[in-house]
Amino acid sequence: MKRIAVLGSTGSVGTQILQVAERHPERLQISALAAGRNLSLLIEQAKQFRPTRVSVARAADVERLQSALAGTGIRVLSGPEGLAELAAVDVDLVAGALVGSLGLEPVLAALRAGREVALANKEVLVMAGPLVLREARRSGGAILPLDSEHVAIHQALAGHPREALARVLLTASGGPFRTATAAEMARATPEQALAHPNWEMGPKITIDSATLMNKGLEAIEARWLFDLEPDRIGAVIHPESIIHSLVEFVDGSWLAQLGIPDMRIPIAYALGMPDRLPLPELKPLDLVEIGALHFEAPDAERFPAFRLALEANRIGGTAPAVLNAANEVAVQAFLDRRISFPGIPEAVEAVLASADFGPGVDLDEIREADRLGREAALRVIEDSACS
Ligand SMILES: NC(=O)c1ccc[n+]([C@@H]2O[C@H](COP(=O)([O-])OP(=O)(O)OC[C@H]3O[C@@H](n4cnc5c(N)ncnc54)[C@H](OP(=O)(O)O)[C@@H]3O)[C@@H](O)[C@H]2O)c1
Repeated sequence: MKRIAVLGSTGSVGTQILQVAERHPERLQISALAAGRNLSLLIEQAKQFRPTRVSVARAADVERLQSALAGTGIRVLSGPEGLAELAAVDVDLVAGALVGSLGLEPVLAALRAGREVALANKEVLVMAGPLVLREARRSGGAILPLDSEHVAIHQALAGHPREALARVLLTASGGPFRTATAAEMARATPEQALAHPNWEMGPKITIDSATLMNKGLEAIEARWLFDLEPDRIGAVIHPESIIHSLVEFVDGSWLAQLGIPDMRIPIAYALGMPDRLPLPELKPLDLVEIGALHFEAPDAERFPAFRLALEANRIGGTAPAVLNAANEVAVQAFLDRRISFPGIPEAVEAVLASADFGPGVDLDEIREADRLGREAALRVIEDSACS
């Protein structure tokens, strides 16, 4: 039995983790649940899975949760301290499904406690890859992929010696604006940007997929997960989202991992490792029905966010943390209708152009880079609103 703590249990990834756990009660036991503000769903989950602890974002919600869970013996925690305590509980696996920079400290707490962390929350590795890996090495913890592209690479690499690897190629659906003109993208509304063609995900990653920032963040994530130099990580647009990523070997051989676009598949892989957990309820992949798989190069003109993330990856140090902070602020400003869709990469580019970067090896420095990146992005957005 694998005991699991789920950070972000009420989100898109979190709820799908619980679906996989519900399907395999003989293998997976949910021991702790952390959520933000969706109390009714968290209460429902807690009553169903009976974890030892739950945590919520606000201290003000603790009383309501305690009274809803009275008699269950479930401890209720709150805030960043609650998240950190919950992340370090005695479990076999911590599933990191929070969104954005919020996930960094709980993941570090889990690693310090020697836990294995299956990480969907890519922003953690983007901000602090070297620090996260150092904590994992120091404590005997480990980071496993949960993002579908990285789960694909993990499978393609399995059993191959390191020297055999030439490069990895991440696939991207291209998002809702793959075929849109620059003028159409300039007028894009949050509703249009949130209408992803293949995946149902939380709002932040859906906007990141529409700008292609998500693919850039995944390139940085791949660097740390698989110890790859930035120039050995590429990306290709693949609108059908059937191939989830590929690995090229030195002999010219390629291995790809295929499956329908359903996050429960990579989740089951990460939770079940080293075994495969059956998911018979999923629609089988029918290649004949699909007929053809297509590939395109990412368009750097219309999707500058991808290039910006690759540049930050090459610069290294605190550059990816600054990029991530500016992007989080800009995505929220777009969702709040304060900037246009192209305003997202514009704000990130302006912040990167004026920032100084440090080596990015300790937590205080990363926190500071995150703070400065956010402040700078807010200034850029305010200035663009005034001009
Ligand atoms: N969705 C996907 O298919 C997918 C695929 C690959 C990777 N990812 C990555 O996985 C991560 C999660 O994505 P998602 O789409 O699942 O996001 P999401 O649906 O927005 O879920 C975010 C989760 O974080 C919780 N949360 C937010 N603020 C919190 C706080 N202050 N304290 C505690 N919990 C808080 C939310 O709780 P409440 O809702 O209760 O407020 C929710 O459970 C992202 O980094 C994303 O890039 C997602």
